[in-house]
Amino acid sequence: MKITMIGTGYVGLVTGTCLAEVGNDVLCVDVDAHKIDILNQGGVPIHEPGLEAMIARNVAAGRLRFTTDQDAAVAHGTLQFIAVGTPPDEDGSADMQYVLAAARNIGRRMSEFKIVVDKSTVPVGTADRVRAAIAEELRSRGVDTPYAVVSNPEFLKEGAAVEDFMRPDRVVIGADDERAIAMMRAVYAPFQRNHERLLLMDVRSAELTKYAANAMLATRISFMNELANLADALGADIEHVRQGIGSDPRIGWQFLYPGVGYGGSCFPKDVKALQHTATELGRPLQILGAVEAANEAQKLRLVEKIVARLGADLAGCRFALWGLAFKPNTDDMREAPSLEIIAALAARGARIVAYDPVAMPEAQRVFGDAPHIAYAATPMDALAGADALIVVTEWKEFRSPDFDALRAALKQPLVFDGRNLYEPALVRAAGLEYFSIGRP
Ligand SMILES: NC(=O)c1ccc[n+]([C@@H]2O[C@H](COP(=O)([O-])OP(=O)(O)OC[C@H]3O[C@@H](n4cnc5c(N)ncnc54)[C@H](O)[C@@H]3O)[C@@H](O)[C@H]2O)c1
Repeated sequence: MKITMIGTGYVGLVTGTCLAEVGNDVLCVDVDAHKIDILNQGGVPIHEPGLEAMIARNVAAGRLRFTTDQDAAVAHGTLQFIAVGTPPDEDGSADMQYVLAAARNIGRRMSEFKIVVDKSTVPVGTADRVRAAIAEELRSRGVDTPYAVVSNPEFLKEGAAVEDFMRPDRVVIGADDERAIAMMRAVYAPFQRNHERLLLMDVRSAELTKYAANAMLATRISFMNELANLADALGADIEHVRQGIGSDPRIGWQFLYPGVGYGGSCFPKDVKALQHTATELGRPLQILGAVEAANEAQKLRLVEKIVARLGADLAGCRFALWGLAFKPNTDDMREAPSLEIIAALAARGARIVAYDPVAMPEAQRVFGDAPHIAYAATPMDALAGADALIVVTEWKEFRSPDFDALRAALKQPLVFDGRNLYEPALVRAAGLEYFSIGRP
């Protein structure tokens, strides 16, 4: 099949590459010429496990190409996937300008039947807006080319995106056009060979499903974070509680980890956008208001613990910070808790020496030459002479440090662990004072 992927970011690049991997002829288009240059020179603008080799393989096979040429992009695919960003607008609603610009672009240029697939996370009703935007462009050209609009929200996780796309739990398709439904079934057939994973529904339900999934996951995280804070106050251990409830199959193990709050490019904006939609309809979701408020507070929980131990004035303090990305296995720092933690420490006069296996270039881009942050080549280098270690992202390489070496490198024997990575007894046996989330 000929497929055009509009937007070559975390979702578009992974989706386009995986669709090429199963034999489709994929053209990825982006308005960011720099990104397309990197890709055309054999580079990969993001960090995603397994992606680089898969891109190289499919480019070499001639099934995957990258362009900024909008004419070529619209001409190429019968299927036009829209995978552009939907960042939060000032009022919390999803900013639809990129999705609608992509739709208008198609309408302005198409000369044969197209299936336009909304893969971006978009508010309920967006498919109608996309349909209207294309219709308006066609009308102004005086043509009546047929097209269909489909909702196909994406559930991949950064850090495991290739694996998630190649082996999806489910594929949600919202559509009412028979020809489009048949095409979407054909597109996803290679990804569900052992059993049917395609859930066909109406467009509005498909659009809402994506927000419902992210809102539910964010709710679990905030719930655990609030419980962890209560455990702190009660002298209970949230890790025991987590095991005690996760073992109940009705609750399950996933997304029950207390920490420094959720971040990333999806949960914060999607929770806000869903709440905005609900509020506009006069039905605000009370639970989501609490989820968001709990998350904002949680991002600073570790800083509160640092202040409780070292005092409010941190001038002259230097902290080693492990982990900048919002989660492991990605270089994405959008809405990462590290940003707020670093800002709060810097506001109190502290300096940070950070280490992250892949997100340091992104951090350098975000912080520029800000004087309060420097970067270390290794986790141990970050520790040298620091007043404390702060663990923010649960990268695998942070899980089993040499605590004696850690103790020897630090100026003060303090570890603030925002991800509950360590066994408290083990850390303390090395002569370190250990602070984590919800554990005595
Ligand atoms: N990142 C995730 O883990 C994830 C998971 C599921 C769903 N989503 C959703 O997918 C969408 C994309 O997210 P992302 O993280 O890939 O965003 P991103 O910012 O990484 O990529 C978006 C890309 O679209 C490009 N773009 C913008 N307007 C364009 C246009 N008119 N034509 C061509 N390209 C254009 C941008 O230059 C950018 O490269 C969002 O709606 C997001 O909520 C993201």
